[in-house]
Amino acid sequence: MEKNEKIEITERFVKRSLKAYDSGHDWWHTDRVRRTALYINNIEKCCDPFEVEIVSLLHDVADSKFSGNDRDNRIADLKKFLSGNGMEELQESVVDVINNISFSSSGKSVSPASPLLQIVQDADRLDAIGAIGVARAFNYGGFRNNPIYDPSGNTKSTISHFHDKLLRLKGLMNTETGKRLAEERHTYIESFLNRFMQEWNGEL
Ligand code: ADP
Ligand code: NI
Repeated sequence: MEKNEKIEITERFVKRSLKAYDSGHDWWHTDRVRRTALYINNIEKCCDPFEVEIVSLLHDVADSKFSGNDRDNRIADLKKFLSGNGMEELQESVVDVINNISFSSSGKSVSPASPLLQIVQDADRLDAIGAIGVARAFNYGGFRNNPIYDPSGNTKSTISHFHDKLLRLKGLMNTETGKRLAEERHTYIESFLNRFMQEWNGEL
């Protein structure tokens, strides 16, 4: 099977697998991560572009936040999909990235991040900041029925998510290119938060 054909088959597999997720985890998130990961790899030149593409396409298909107990089945399906389509040799790197990409699992991994994981993780994190990051955060918050902001700090709001997680992502970038791309997106969410608080406090 040609590489192009493998990519198309993987795209179709991903579109089927992502159906149950909120729209911040939809196909277009995956598509943006793929594009950003390929861009980073093109500059860093550390991995095989085909491998970067397949792994970034598959990075969210077994997200534990959404697949819950079904996760093991999803990993098994994924392995079957790869071996059934001539990509058996990618099984290990795909599962490694899926298991270690998430913010919540970062640091828990026993071995240092592979170059492939570093690139796809940077691309995934970049999609959580900047204007897209703002849109995704409020979309997820709405999906969970969280308040946009709670001045008392007693409930988890979407604004608190910016402080707990999103403002920290810039400092967690793995690659030089990822760091560079994170700068502007970080500045953007900082100014968004300032503006939000000014409007909230009636200062404008
Ligand atoms: P990862 O899969 O990298 O661990 P998440 O799945 O936690 O990342 O986040 C995916 C998207 O959902 C991000 O854009 C993130 O900001 C958003 N998100 C996750 N948790 C929350 C939350 N509690 N409130 C608002 N947005 C959230
Ligand atoms: Ni993702």
